[in-house]
Parts: sequence; C-alpha cells; structure tokens
Amino acid sequence: MKLFEITSKRKLNDNITWMVIYAPLVARKARPGQFIILRTDEYGERIPLTMAGHNEEDGTIDLIYATVGRTTMLMDQLEVGDCFADIVGPLGKATHMEGLKKVCVVGGGTGNALAYPIASGMHRHGIEVDMITGFKNKDLVILEDEFRAETDNLYVVTDDGSYGEKAFTTEKLKALIEAGNTYDEIVAVGPPIMMKLVCQIAAEYNIPSVASLTAYMIDGTGMCGGCRARIGGEDKFVCVDGPEFDGSLVDWDELIQRNSFYKEQEDEDRAHVCRLTGGVRYHD
Ligand SMILES: Cc1cc2nc3c(=O)[nH]c(=O)nc-3n(C[C@H](O)[C@H](O)[C@H](O)COP(=O)(O)OP(=O)(O)OC[C@H]3O[C@@H](n4cnc5c(N)ncnc54)[C@H](O)[C@@H]3O)c2cc1C
Ligand code: FES
Repeated sequence: MKLFEITSKRKLNDNITWMVIYAPLVARKARPGQFIILRTDEYGERIPLTMAGHNEEDGTIDLIYATVGRTTMLMDQLEVGDCFADIVGPLGKATHMEGLKKVCVVGGGTGNALAYPIASGMHRHGIEVDMITGFKNKDLVILEDEFRAETDNLYVVTDDGSYGEKAFTTEKLKALIEAGNTYDEIVAVGPPIMMKLVCQIAAEYNIPSVASLTAYMIDGTGMCGGCRARIGGEDKFVCVDGPEFDGSLVDWDELIQRNSFYKEQEDEDRAHVCRLTGGVRYHD
C-alpha cells in the first residue's frame, strides 16, 4: 500500500463522496472532531476536510466531501489506487465530551458529513445522542443508516417534506426541547446561518451550544491568520483553537462575511473545467 493511496471510494449522492485513504501516521493519532489538510497534487490548493472516521489497524482515514469547487472536482477524478500528494494531520482540537450525559447534534446539508464523527464519537463515549439531520430534499439525504446505528434517536427532516419530517432543523430542535427533552449541550454543524439560529435557540433555553466552524484555511497551524474568527470579542484561529467553539460567543455575521470573500474567484475557477477532458485547468 502506498502512502495516501485511496483504498475505497463510494458516492453517497450525486454530490457527496466517501473516500478511505491510507495514512497510517494520521490514523494512529486521529480523534473525533479533528481534520486534515490535503493537496491532490503538487500544484494543488490545500483544503481542510474533517475525518469522518479512522481505522488504526488498517492505517486508514475516512473523508466525506461535497464536490463544490476546483479541488473537490479534482478529488472526484481520483480513483481507488491513486494517491494524494500530501495529507497533513490530525489538526485542530478533538470534540469535547467530558461530563456530558445527553446532547443533541444538529447537522445541516453537507454539514452532516462533519456532524457524523462528532455524533458517533460521542455515542461511543457513552453519551446519549439525539441527532437531527436536515436536508433540502430527499435526493440530498446522506448517512441515514450510519446515524441510525451510531446515535440514540435519529430525526430526519427535509425542507420540502419529500423525506422524513417536513421541517427545518431549527424547528425540530425547538419541538424536541418544548416536548421536554433536556440536553447538556447542543452541537451545530452546517451552514453558518443554520448554526447561528441553532445557537440562538440553545441560548433561549439556557443550554450550552457548540458550533463546528469552517473558516478559510491555508496552513492549518496557526501561522497564516487565514482562519481568524471573532469569538467572545477575541480573535481566535479556527485551525488551532477550534474548529469547535462556544456557539453563544461566535460573531456569526463576521464569519458569514469572511466566508464569501473569495466567491468571485471560486466561481471563476469552477468554470475552468476543460470541455475536452473534463479535467480542471490550473491558472497559467
Ligand atoms: C475544519 C474544516 C473541515 C471541513 N470539513 C469538510 C468535510 O468534512 N467535508 C466537506 O465536504 N467539506 C469540508 N470543509 C469545507 C471544505 O474545506 C471546502 O468545501 C473545500 O475547501 C472546497 O474547496 P474547492 O476548491 O473544491 O472549492 P472552492 O470553489 O475553492 O470553494 C468552495 C467553498 O469551500 C470553502 N473553502 C474553499 N477553500 C477553502 C479553504 N482553504 N479552507 C476552508 N474552506 C474553504 C468556502 O466556503 C468556499 O466558498 C471543511 C472546512 C473546514 C475549515
Ligand atoms: S489556517 Fe492559517 S492560521 Fe489557521
């Protein structure tokens, strides 16, 4: 087996893929909530991805990624037996679990890929986990069987009601709390606007909240400042101080603004898919 070789690849839906990669040193130290930074090849951009799982014995890590732009399109072109140029990790702090008895994890859209290791890690740690997993519609639903196997109660909701219950994740969370469920913590993983609303609901009911932030990252070691976020009036680096933070302290409006900073360049990059080969063209 070669270092960073893809040992398995399967589509969860049209846009989301699960990959298993041989990275024994990373697998040996990985814990739930941590992430890696990879490059597809020597010219590639560095992108962060959460480890959806790891297997110390096989020396593998699991990644679940959505194809959203240039690098993830390149990842999609790699097959079993191909290798990544490099993978750095594990990075970031592991999910905090000490002292928790019952939690509610709320995952939205692609955020469910990041919520999965958190929910399953907590469940394996003996914490009772209620999981709300939300999607726009039936075609986008992922990881239902995995969540069902690794949480105590699973609530699947869709915006349009085409699968599971017709509700937003925030509505379902409110309904569960109003029905008398008590939680030591609510964990929000998904689009920043969903996380902001989930953390506001938690605050309304005096429940501590945690949000897993996805800020722009470059080095992943606290050196470049690319992933800076305002937390409780202080500057924090998501890569080393996070990625999980107290949701009541996050400056959501600033985070949402920073996350759209490179939108124009990213849209341009996405348009650079070669019409002949389907390959992605690099800038000259
Ligand atoms: C800690 C962390 C964990 C993540 N885990 C996952 C995961 O498990 N699965 C998953 O599908 N996605 C995850 N993401 C998001 C993932 O990094 C982006 O989807 C990816 O970088 C997109 O790159 P691209 O070139 O394909 O798309 P681009 O067109 O370059 O970008 C699309 C969007 O991805 C985000 N993004 C782009 N570059 C970066 C970067 N260097 N750092 C952070 N975000 C970026 C931005 O929101 C951007 O608008 C995570 C992000 C962070 C910060
Ligand atoms: S990615 Fe550079 S400081 Fe966090």
